[in-house]
Amino acid sequence: MPIPFIQRQGKPLEQRFREDDPTRLRLKYEPYYHTFHRKEGSRVWRGDREYIMLASNDYLGLGDHPKVIEAGKAALEQWGSGTTGARLANGSRSFHVELEEELADFLGKEACHVSSAGYLSCMSAVASYARRGDVIFVDKNSHSSLWSGIQASGATYEKFSHNNPEDLRHLLSTEKREVPKIIVIEGVYSMEGHIAKLPEIAALAEEFDAFLVMDDAHGFGVLGENGRGTAEHFDLPDGADAVCGSFSKSLGGTGGFVAASQNAIEYLRSHSKQTIFSAALSPVATACAKAALGLMKEEPEHRRRLWENRRRYKAILDELDLDFWDSETPAMPIVLGDKEKVYFFWKALLEKGIFTVISVAPAVPPGKDLIRTAISAKHTERDIEQIAAAFAYAKTKI
Ligand SMILES: Cc1ncc(COP(=O)(O)O)c(C=O)c1O
Repeated sequence: MPIPFIQRQGKPLEQRFREDDPTRLRLKYEPYYHTFHRKEGSRVWRGDREYIMLASNDYLGLGDHPKVIEAGKAALEQWGSGTTGARLANGSRSFHVELEEELADFLGKEACHVSSAGYLSCMSAVASYARRGDVIFVDKNSHSSLWSGIQASGATYEKFSHNNPEDLRHLLSTEKREVPKIIVIEGVYSMEGHIAKLPEIAALAEEFDAFLVMDDAHGFGVLGENGRGTAEHFDLPDGADAVCGSFSKSLGGTGGFVAASQNAIEYLRSHSKQTIFSAALSPVATACAKAALGLMKEEPEHRRRLWENRRRYKAILDELDLDFWDSETPAMPIVLGDKEKVYFFWKALLEKGIFTVISVAPAVPPGKDLIRTAISAKHTERDIEQIAAAFAYAKTKI
């Protein structure tokens, strides 16, 4: 029975939703969650306004390759839309096993496990292996999926300064020898475009008997002569004990993987909540990833074009004296240093038909507020000329 003389305030959570600053600001300035109505090559349409997509991670432009589309259609016809359950309970399908074998072979690992998102795979590569009593040493700029894995594991953690093996050594050497240790890094840092100092970090992992997990979402398909990623870039096939990543970057699809020794993958299958309690990767997503992986191997021209476009894009940024945080890869942040500059730069690019994404503190370190861009093999000569003109214009607006 309601008490008539007490004024009801409503549910506290409803009030929280209404008064939340990030949500209020997002709805006011509309920097995120845009809806596109059409896509063709490197271009997207919002209503009848056309933009060059410079924020996607489809580095090799394989997402709409005819062979990928054909493979997706065939899988849909043969298997239907979903897997309707977790593999532990409902069983794997032959297409999961085939993709896992192909990926393991490509990455030079004994085994692989795929799941329905890169986020789940990368989270799982930490959460399944680490447990209470272990110590995780994590690069402070690591992706949110890895932090979710750390939090879910119950292990304690130490942050080391970004891509800094000396700091990592210092932290490792202050820990007891017998404590199980895990090092967590990215192969290519998604926001900064920096390549991990894998040779030094892998050597530390050996010296201190630490298990090294590397999220190579942005290195896979991009680095190395054959696109095998950061480990191939450094000619260190066994540099990391577990490599995790996503199908949503170079493979242009959806899903993720962890590749490691047979024992490590079987252990993950026994302990990964992200696997045990989540429906398996769909037939279409698996078939598309497999077709894109095939193209990655058979058509190296996509990676060559990516790096050629990256060279030209970097020259534009150099010419305009824009700070791209010493990125070494096609993921190129434009560091502007404060939120207002970022907003006006981003708006000016939109006005000129270039779609990018804003990333401001706390998502990036203070003073590093930036526009994240990624160049792709799909960008044409005409796109790159339009990008150059738009960036020159945006620079006059800050
Ligand atoms: C470094 C890194 N790891 C993991 C993920 C998650 O991948 P997905 O988008 O496929 O879930 C991303 C994507 O943002 C990423 O950048």
